[in-house]
Amino acid sequence: VNLRIPGPIPVPDDILETMSNPMINHRGPEFKEILFRVTDGLKQVFDTESDVYILTASGTGAMEAAIVNTLSPGDKALNATVGVFGERFGKIAELFGAKVTTLGFPYGTAIDPDKLREALNADPDIKAVLVTQNETSTGVTNDMEAVSRVVKGEFDKLLLVDGISSVCSIPMQTDGWGCDVVASASQKGWMLPPGLAFVSFSQRAWKAHAEATMPRYYFDMAMYRRYFEMGQPPYTPAVSLMFALDLALSKILAEGIGSVFERHASIGQMTRDGVRGLGLSIFPKEESIASNTCTAVAVPDGVDGTRLLTLMRTEHGVVLAGGQGSLSGKIFRIGHMGYTTSEDIEGVVRALSVVLPQVGFAAARARARRS
Ligand SMILES: Cc1ncc(COP(=O)(O)O)c(C=O)c1O
Repeated sequence: VNLRIPGPIPVPDDILETMSNPMINHRGPEFKEILFRVTDGLKQVFDTESDVYILTASGTGAMEAAIVNTLSPGDKALNATVGVFGERFGKIAELFGAKVTTLGFPYGTAIDPDKLREALNADPDIKAVLVTQNETSTGVTNDMEAVSRVVKGEFDKLLLVDGISSVCSIPMQTDGWGCDVVASASQKGWMLPPGLAFVSFSQRAWKAHAEATMPRYYFDMAMYRRYFEMGQPPYTPAVSLMFALDLALSKILAEGIGSVFERHASIGQMTRDGVRGLGLSIFPKEESIASNTCTAVAVPDGVDGTRLLTLMRTEHGVVLAGGQGSLSGKIFRIGHMGYTTSEDIEGVVRALSVVLPQVGFAAARARARRS
């Protein structure tokens, strides 16, 4: 099966195998060594000198951690959202009592830094800005450097980033761009199964933590910091996934993070070229904002998107993702983060070239050419 959803993605065999190693004492010396080594590796990938903690959770847990560790009920947050996951970030903040102003950009577009500036000028009491670096639901990557220039450079607000489908695949300068908390998750570019989430935590985030009164227990970063000093996690960790993380990071760092980013850029380009070559259009409004971890493709008029995905799966073993929320039936998505080869993408394009005529696409194009 060619699993091409935007996470989980296929995991290399040696990483899967390492998960069958016998259990070890998570409060013993062997685990301590692993914890210190992987934390050091995570910091290199996040490009930060600050803290990075490992949670046993999916990415949403890391988003919740970003909120509850830095904000208090009543705090004002600006949610600059370009899709479904951005909306989720705002919802979490609201649920825990933040006063959230939504700065929503149309699906398929990216954050406009000028609008961000306007929104921050309009309300000086805003404490934090929530941003999704790579919006997996629309296949759009925001320009974090430009966002940071406004949020940090001009207004010096707390910057909380969902980097779940970007960190380790698309450049993220956690310190360079002043990102106070960045969340990521194992089933994305990290080439791991789901189950681990990662959160970076800046000095500024720690300052906010000291004052933040949102309820938190499992995700209280103070516990992670206290136990880390002893070389331990606060709660029983996903030991098998930690073995896997250790090996994945050694592979990523051996390849070089710059090369990993380049590989994603070239696979992203290859995917976009491939679908365009079939006469399809990508969903993002501009090429420059198209994601290198997930390509969102517009379902052509008159084509039943569900049937398209069913035929891809049943006849070709290619598993793609549909659209979420209001994008259901309007787009489909091809995941190409982490362990993805050019052969994987060629397989997708080849299968699409067979299935598209079966769902009426080639016929529609021929009709359009005749008229
Ligand atoms: C950008 C983004 N944010 C949040 C999430 C949610 O992560 P999880 O499903 O691991 O909780 C995802 C996962 O698809 C994502 O891609």
